[in-house]
Amino acid sequence: MTVFVDEVREEKIRDKERFEKTSAVNRAFVEKAIQHVLAKIDQSLDVFTDMFPDSNSENLVYKPIQNVEWTTSFWTGMLWLAYEYTRNEKYRKVAEKQVESFKERLDNRIEVDHHDLGFLYTLSCVSAYKLTGNEEAKETAIKAADLLITRYLDKAGIIQAWGDLNDPKERGRMIIDCNMNLPLLYWASEVTGKSVYREIGQTHVKQAAKYIVRQDASTFHTYYMDPNTGKPLYGNTRQGYSDNSCWARGQSWGIYGFPLSYQYIHDWSLIELAKKLTNYYLNRLPEDQICYWDLIFTEGDEERDSSAAAITVCGLLEMAKHLPLTDPERRTYENAALIMIQSLYENYTTEIDSEANGILKHAVYYKGGGRGVDESCIWGDYYYFEALIRLVKDWKMYW
Ligand code: GLY
Repeated sequence: MTVFVDEVREEKIRDKERFEKTSAVNRAFVEKAIQHVLAKIDQSLDVFTDMFPDSNSENLVYKPIQNVEWTTSFWTGMLWLAYEYTRNEKYRKVAEKQVESFKERLDNRIEVDHHDLGFLYTLSCVSAYKLTGNEEAKETAIKAADLLITRYLDKAGIIQAWGDLNDPKERGRMIIDCNMNLPLLYWASEVTGKSVYREIGQTHVKQAAKYIVRQDASTFHTYYMDPNTGKPLYGNTRQGYSDNSCWARGQSWGIYGFPLSYQYIHDWSLIELAKKLTNYYLNRLPEDQICYWDLIFTEGDEERDSSAAAITVCGLLEMAKHLPLTDPERRTYENAALIMIQSLYENYTTEIDSEANGILKHAVYYKGGGRGVDESCIWGDYYYFEALIRLVKDWKMYW
């Protein structure tokens, strides 16, 4: 497979020195940051056993919801991370209860007609299987992969993101976020020996690389293909500032998502592409290294998106892992990750907000829709925790 990344421009990192400064992040720093995460999890564990945190907080408090959103697994994923780190059975017990909830959700087809089955079943069930050998979780995750591939449009070579497959408004639309849903498919091929899942993931990621990434290494949020002919149509945004701007979290999904596909399909062009996306992102960061919610903003009073920063840290650490030691940028990316973690911990956490039940504040879910603006977002909390765990141990990915 060849991704057409040659046509994507590579910006050099403009001010390399700012990402090469020594950070304060050492083991003690990370362990302290993890203690804050664990304290917040403990504060909410009873409430979020049968219920889940909503996707975003309101006044920094997540309200409890049923297992109905695309985001509920981020909490379960945090419980698995907490279990791995502490080996405390209390986290495993709740996570296992939630695995049951994810099985019921799939069996009863509750809010599963979208591509986010990857987020949902990787962090709840694949993680359970990888950590504890839970066979029921494995079967559930394979069934989720089976459902996810029903969204594949073969002429277009993409997995449709949202909506009924016959909905004229959504038909043929892929989105950059879907990169994170593909590991479920690669994993399903590994455990079943059936290549169909991997082939679909591979074809989709190639189309995403070709059409969602623009020539300047920024990304569209969404892109339409003609499902009947496979013809590429046009890109536009849902959650970004405008169709031509670069929604920060979308760029982060690319920075992390392309290396995740690389991990399974070993196409080096995906790493080259992730580097280009990363340089574009790094070149648009304000002084404290935490992006605005859209990369069109580089200074001023617009809100930041700390959740995009947390995703990016995981992406940088994952990508750097694959770069040869001789790559001059490897160290820069690793150090940029540390600098961002320091900034997140020192300026964006709820450590002194005793009423808050989230971890990171100053995230944006959907500015145009007026949802979760300058609040906590549950995926931001998850990726921040994942990043910290990556920094203290040789973490075996759930992805
Ligand atoms: N995947 C949806 C979002 O990032 O808001």
